[in-house]
Amino acid sequence: MNRCVGVFDSGLGGLTVVKELKKKWPGQRIIYLGDTARVPYGTRSPEVIKKFAVECARFLEGKKVDKIIIACNTASAYAFGEVRAAVSVPAWEVISYGAKGTRGSKKIGVIGTRATIGSGRYEEEIKKINPGAEIKSAATPLLVPLVEEGETSGDLIEMAVGKSIAGMAGAETLILGCTHYPVIAPVIKKQLPGVKLVNPGEELAREWPGENTGGEDEYYFTDMTDRYVRVAEMFLGGKLTGKAERIQL
Ligand code: DGL
Repeated sequence: MNRCVGVFDSGLGGLTVVKELKKKWPGQRIIYLGDTARVPYGTRSPEVIKKFAVECARFLEGKKVDKIIIACNTASAYAFGEVRAAVSVPAWEVISYGAKGTRGSKKIGVIGTRATIGSGRYEEEIKKINPGAEIKSAATPLLVPLVEEGETSGDLIEMAVGKSIAGMAGAETLILGCTHYPVIAPVIKKQLPGVKLVNPGEELAREWPGENTGGEDEYYFTDMTDRYVRVAEMFLGGKLTGKAERIQL
């Protein structure tokens, strides 16, 4: 079997990271796990996020992946250390890559789930790269459910984005610190014209050592409803090709 990377997320949003990986490494074989039965992680406690993330990583290790990427910002924020300790393959998170995308900027905004923002991890990483930068963070919990409902343009999402990023006026750079937000980048951009948006998945893909291994991708989900293909393809920005299966962790 071809070498491959395991990518996991709390649900389907992590497919925005797969999209970026595939742009850079079109032949990279991917085994994806979306913990759709337990999404969202962003409203949960650190202990639960860590437990879930380790279970996801162990599942992927059982699938014989050679590397693991934690696509979920929330899991990256809390469970990177735990994941690295739990598996024997190298692992990557997305927070430090998102922070690197702010290089040179003095007014930085970060949006993400309550848990990600509450962790303070983006601030920690930004300060390493941009000491002295002004950082504003905001939990934007309204956005995930709207995006999941396919509300990616129109009045409703514009209103929710407006309310969510009201404190970000003046930011030069805004980190989209949640897997779902790249899908609504045009709505955010419309309300913050001139801002540089940073997609942590894109930043990771730029530096990450992928391989054009070839071979069929595999997608595993802890729950699958009638809508999952439509929602998955919205995040992926294309067809979901390869095997898709429901599993239990
Ligand atoms: N994948 C999560 C993240 O990037 C968003 C959805 C959730 O709350 O689980 O933080």
